[in-house]
Amino acid sequence: MDSFRIRGGARLEGSLRVSGAKNAALPILCAALLADGEHRFRNVPALRDVATMGQLLETMGLTVVQDGSVLDITSRAVNEPVAPYELVKKMRASVLVLGPLVARYGEATVSLPGGCAIGARPIDQHLKGLEAMGAKVDLDHGYVHVKVPRGRLTGAEVVLDMPTVTGTENLMSAAVLAEGRTTLVNAAREPEIEELARVLNKMGANVTGAGTDVIVIEGREGLEPVDHAIMADRIEAGTYMVAAAATKGNVYLDGVTFDHLEAVAAKMRQAGCEVEREGEGVRVVAEGDLKAVDIKTAPHPGFPTDMQAQLMVLMVMAKGQSVIEETIFENRFMHVPELNRMGANISVHGRTATVKGVDSLQGASVMATDLRASASLVIAGLLAQGETEVLRVYHIDRGYEHIEEKLAGLGATIERVPGASA
Ligand code: EPU
Repeated sequence: MDSFRIRGGARLEGSLRVSGAKNAALPILCAALLADGEHRFRNVPALRDVATMGQLLETMGLTVVQDGSVLDITSRAVNEPVAPYELVKKMRASVLVLGPLVARYGEATVSLPGGCAIGARPIDQHLKGLEAMGAKVDLDHGYVHVKVPRGRLTGAEVVLDMPTVTGTENLMSAAVLAEGRTTLVNAAREPEIEELARVLNKMGANVTGAGTDVIVIEGREGLEPVDHAIMADRIEAGTYMVAAAATKGNVYLDGVTFDHLEAVAAKMRQAGCEVEREGEGVRVVAEGDLKAVDIKTAPHPGFPTDMQAQLMVLMVMAKGQSVIEETIFENRFMHVPELNRMGANISVHGRTATVKGVDSLQGASVMATDLRASASLVIAGLLAQGETEVLRVYHIDRGYEHIEEKLAGLGATIERVPGASA
């Protein structure tokens, strides 16, 4: 597997364009299952997870062609509404085919995703919602079989126990072809949910309330193919914002929706960084010492769990002590032992990490098995003294498009070292 070799110390300066959002693209590509015909998606990031989703759709008989940031899908009746273990184990988000398949074909068989590097992550809420809409759910040999005895889902009120992101997306995508009205209560409010609703509505669906905690969907008989440009990736943007601040840099990120980044911007400002909306983007400038701030992750519009590891690196270099609480996933501190090996002073008790600021980090060989944790190690490498080797960048390639080229464009010394294939 490839690794990154990073020589720390360079101040990041300049501007870069943020790519399309991975977590918006994945459910949107699955929405192509809802309508036969030619779909075109623009601003799609060239990422390993997007390729895996393409492969999954192809195994079902769709044609998927990505050329740069344009991804075309020719959708047609699937051979078999099945998501096999081989693909689901590679990418948990494969479960996003469940809602569209059940809506369109009245049945689906999807491998249970099981645990992943950041926690158990069950899908009980997805299944509960489909059952409320008239589906029968069976578990068999690690697969979940969902079947709608009457053929078509029926609208229902579904109260989610927690605002699950992919659960809300699956149920929204199922409800658009159901008979009657579905109301999702305690729905996730992430910008990616709003983006999916925009796409479904362009396809002829009637979804209202996306972005709030109550989403109402009036089911339709059929939908049309769509042409849509995917919104910018707020987590990629946030990661570069932190990288800029960590290196005391001055960076402009183009094509970012600032409103999606309020919680991250607020914490960075509190820590002493300048974060300003500028034109169609955001500028981050950091000079002088950073102040320690406390962070608690929460569903949107709270502080995103997908930015917790990156902000922690900033706190490693801040004056004082910060307390970082992870409330979404039970095992999302995999970066901590690696950061400590680089000279950080972080202790973890349950879901809380206490970070005592240090004067410097030293380069080391590090690795993590979670995408965002790996990104945080790259940021640590940028500010560490000497050379850092980040191993298994496979995980970073799942979610960051050309990260080494983008960072090098801002003045970082980073190169990809090809390794033996996995
Ligand atoms: N949960 C349940 N039951 C369910 C669904 C969720 O108990 O049926 C729990 C989970 O175990 C977790 C919490 O609810 O503790 C929230 O999980 P959620 O379902 O919201 O997460 P997700 O939909 O699986 C998406 C993103 C993640 C991001 C989380 C939280 C995609 C493809 N993935 O996951 O992104 O961290 O929301 O915002 O959208 C990443 O990009 O690195 C990533 C992990």
